[in-house]
Amino acid sequence: MKFALITAVLLSSIGLVNVANAANVDKGQALVEKANCASCHGAGLNAPILPVYPKLAGQYSDYLYYALKAYKVGNGNPQYGRNNAIMGSQVQAFSDADMQDIAAYVSSLPGNFVIKK
Ligand code: HEC
Repeated sequence: MKFALITAVLLSSIGLVNVANAANVDKGQALVEKANCASCHGAGLNAPILPVYPKLAGQYSDYLYYALKAYKVGNGNPQYGRNNAIMGSQVQAFSDADMQDIAAYVSSLPGNFVIKK
């Protein structure tokens, strides 16, 4: 009985932590649609309008988040920033949480990245 109670308390506290930190895919989708990221990255963010624009769909969310954050930092930190005028202007308005939500959404999209073995 005591064990069950402790387990329940532990599980619910883990649940709360997850809810607090979990990226929100729906919110990410709304942000991506509002910003019209598909105007360059193409349908499903998987068909860029020019070959120099990267495919995004299905990329690891950690990578996407880090990339977005690096564009936001830009030249401010040469160790960390990505200096790209186009993407730099895209991300300025986003908070950290926004970028995590966007990364989670984009990562959830079906993509066709391949791993060559
Ligand atoms: C006007 C065109 C344009 C729009 C709109 C645009 N992007 Fe980009 N995006 C680019 C270009 C160009 C690059 C490559 C930049 C570089 O060389 O670093 C890029 C790169 C990226 C990368 C890095 C990908 C990688 O593999 O490193 C991410 C992530 C990204 N864009 C997300 C977004 C999101 C999210 C939005 C909408 C909020 C968006 N982009 C809107 C043109 C655009």
